Amino acid sequence: VTVRELAELLRVPPNVVMAELLKRGVLATINQTVPSEVALQVAEALGFLAEIKKEEEETLEEEIPDHWEKLPRPPIVVVMGHVDHGKTTLLDTIRKTNVAEREKGGITQHIGASVVQLPDGRKITFLDTPGHEAFTSLRARGAQITDIAVLVVAADDGVMPQTVEAINHARAFNVPIIVAVNKIDKPGADPQRVRRELSELGLIPEEWGGDTIFVDVSAKTGQNVETLLEYILLLAEILELKARVEGPAKGTVIESKLDKQRGPVATLIVQEGTLKVGDPVVAGTTYGKIRAMFDDKGRKLNSAGPSTPVEVLGFEELPMAGDTFIVVEDEKKARQIAEIRKQKKEQQEKLSRGLMLEDVFKKIE
Ligand code: GTP
Ligand code: MG
Repeated sequence: VTVRELAELLRVPPNVVMAELLKRGVLATINQTVPSEVALQVAEALGFLAEIKKEEEETLEEEIPDHWEKLPRPPIVVVMGHVDHGKTTLLDTIRKTNVAEREKGGITQHIGASVVQLPDGRKITFLDTPGHEAFTSLRARGAQITDIAVLVVAADDGVMPQTVEAINHARAFNVPIIVAVNKIDKPGADPQRVRRELSELGLIPEEWGGDTIFVDVSAKTGQNVETLLEYILLLAEILELKARVEGPAKGTVIESKLDKQRGPVATLIVQEGTLKVGDPVVAGTTYGKIRAMFDDKGRKLNSAGPSTPVEVLGFEELPMAGDTFIVVEDEKKARQIAEIRKQKKEQQEKLSRGLMLEDVFKKIE
C-alpha cells in the first residue's frame, strides 16, 4: 500500500503515518509504497493507541464514584397521542402559556420540554411530542427518556393510529401510561367509548378493575386538569424516582439545531448529576464545553440538576437527538473520546460497506 492508502485505511492524516514510518527509519512521501511488514507495524502502533483510548472510554462510567446519595427527582412525563387530540393545549393549560396557537398549522414538530412547578413546590418535567404520523422517531425518543406517559385521546375522536403507536412506544420502553381523555367539553364527546377502545388494547381503566388511570379532562376549559396532575405526582411517588445530584452530569440530547449566530444549540435533559456552565462534555461523536445554558423559559442558568431540560451552547458540532451526553474531566478528554467514537463509527460504516480492514491487511501480507 501507499502512504496515502494506509492513512485512509487507518483514518488518520497521512503525516501521522509518515511520522510512524520515520520512527521506524522509513522516509516515505505520500504516494510511495510502504513495505507490508512496516505497514502492519504502523497499523499496530496506531491501533494500539486506539485500544488504550477505547479502554478509557469504557471506564468513563465507572469513574463516577458511587458514594453520592440518590435524592428524589421530578418525574419526566411525555405527552403523547394522535394529531390534534390536544397535547399542546393541555400543556398550555398546565403551564398557562399558549404555544399551540403559535405553532405552524397548529402542528407540533418537535419535542418541547418544560418544567411545571406546582404551588406547593413539586415539579414535573413535561415533554410534548408531535402526533403527526411523520414524527414516529420523535415519539419513540420521547418515550425512551421518560418515567410516565400521558396518553391524550380526544373523546370526540377516539383511538386513532398514532394513539396505538404511542402505546406501543410507551410499552417498548416500559413506561407506565396515564390516559387523559380530552375534549370532554365537546358536544360529541364519548369518554366511555375511549375506555372501551383502549381496553381492547390492554389499557383497562381502574374503575373496571384494571390498573390504568383514566382522567376525563378538557384542555380547553381546564376541567379536571389538576386531578390529572395529582395522578401524575401520585404515580411518580410510587415509582420512587431518584437521582444523584452531585458529581458530573449525564443525560440525553433531546433536540439540536444549528443557529446562525450561536452555532450548535442543543436541548439536553439532565438525568444524573449537575450540569454546570464550563463543563467539558461528550455527546455521541461530538464534544464541547458548556458556554451558556438556559432553562425552558429562556432564563440563563449556571447549573442544572436531575430532570431539568436545558438549552446549551458550546458543542463543536451538532450532537444527535437521542445521543447520551456525559461530563468528563477536561476538554482534551472530551475531544479524544469523541474522536474515538467517530473513528469507530466510521469504521463500522466501512465494515458495513463490506470493506474489512483485516482483509486488506491479509492482502498486504
Ligand atoms: P399535534 O401536536 O399536531 O399532534 O396536536 P396536539 O395534540 O398538540 O393538539 P393541539 O393542542 O394543537 O389541539 C388541536 C386542536 O384541538 C386545537 O384547535 C385546540 O384548540 C383543540 N382542543 C384541544 N383541547 C381541546 C379541548 O379540551 N376541548 C376543545 N373543545 N378543543 C380542544
Ligand atoms: Mg401539539
